[in-house]
Amino acid sequence: MNIGIVKEQTKRERRVAVVPMHVKQMVKANHTVLVEQGAGLKAGFLDAAYESAGAKVIDRETLYDQAEIVLSVRFANASSDGEAIAKKLKKGQTVIGLMEPYEPHPSFDVMRKNQVSAFALELVPRTTRAQSMDVLSSMANLAGYKAALIGANLSPKLFPMMMTAAGTITPAKVFVIGVGVAGLQAIATAKRLGAVVSAYDVRPEVKEQVESLGASFVEYDLESGAGEGGYAKKMDDDFYKRQQALMAKTLADHDVIITTANIPGKKAPVLITEAMMTSMKQGSVIVDLAAERGGNCALSKPGETVDVHGVLISGVIDIASGLAGSTSTLYSKNIMTFVNHLLEGKTESYDMNDDIVRATAVVHENALHDNVRGKEGVE
Ligand code: NAI
Repeated sequence: MNIGIVKEQTKRERRVAVVPMHVKQMVKANHTVLVEQGAGLKAGFLDAAYESAGAKVIDRETLYDQAEIVLSVRFANASSDGEAIAKKLKKGQTVIGLMEPYEPHPSFDVMRKNQVSAFALELVPRTTRAQSMDVLSSMANLAGYKAALIGANLSPKLFPMMMTAAGTITPAKVFVIGVGVAGLQAIATAKRLGAVVSAYDVRPEVKEQVESLGASFVEYDLESGAGEGGYAKKMDDDFYKRQQALMAKTLADHDVIITTANIPGKKAPVLITEAMMTSMKQGSVIVDLAAERGGNCALSKPGETVDVHGVLISGVIDIASGLAGSTSTLYSKNIMTFVNHLLEGKTESYDMNDDIVRATAVVHENALHDNVRGKEGVE
């Protein structure tokens, strides 16, 4: 099989879909690996490293012409000129990457018309079998780590307790909201840095995981918001209002708040309003990991750090891109495992009876898959 690795076209994207270490494994498995010139450069992987691993380094046009499977990080929807890229693909080719499948985008229709197959890695189910292909978890894990570092950096309070000749400094108090993959890593990192950490989630079952990391679990008198597959479900406005009222007191008692609350395919729930911030301590910090998806804090600005009533809000985005060396290595392992899985079950066509293949397909056999069909703007 000819497998192509493209250079990312999205502004600010530094990752590459496959790193040289995994190219070697693909070549060993008898695939021909084609890499677009400079594809790995921003993540620290030179063309020469791909060539030593057995890949052919070629220009973009030749790659789109020869590759049977095209691997990318942010494809179609997610890239600035997604539609133009989709037009390069032709009948029988397959493309795999992050595609923001929840958002309607003309590139899906272009691929459907050109009889291309497209698989979106955001849709990998959170099951044990699919764990090694779960790109979102790999990225969120590192984002959680970075969120704790950003909090420590912006806070005027030191995270660890320090006993010095000049007196003792008490540790910072960190509150993590949302205990999924990012939240758990944020807790672990803040703990390692010496902070006193507490956390809260609408899924009460995570209490044990929080405590196993040495943090305390904050409980509110609210119904469970647990949905399917380890994710939360969307609650009604009344729930969020009651949650905000209870949470305001907790915020006032902490120095750094890290918010990671997420509901798949939906806008991030607003957990912190401007009114809640007025009772927070001066110099407190909010790191809003959900800024790109609307924000868990009503006043966060994607990509900016803003000062509101003396509270700093970091609306950090693109963490995964910023850590491209490490995130590319994880992404690469995930996508390679996905490709192997896809090809393992392939006969004439991809095995749509397989739960992972079915869940991730967005365009297949001349049709938009149910995973995107019916969304606004997509027929
Ligand atoms: P996840 O779905 O594993 O975890 C989110 C957690 O939030 C779940 O445990 C869920 O129960 C909880 N939650 C949902 N609604 C809640 C509420 N009202 N109150 C309290 N908890 C609530 O998501 P994951 O993978 O940990 O990602 C977290 C966030 O980080 C996402 O918004 C994701 O897009 C973002 N992210 C941001 C990056 C960046 O560069 N800023 C990079 C990677 C991820």
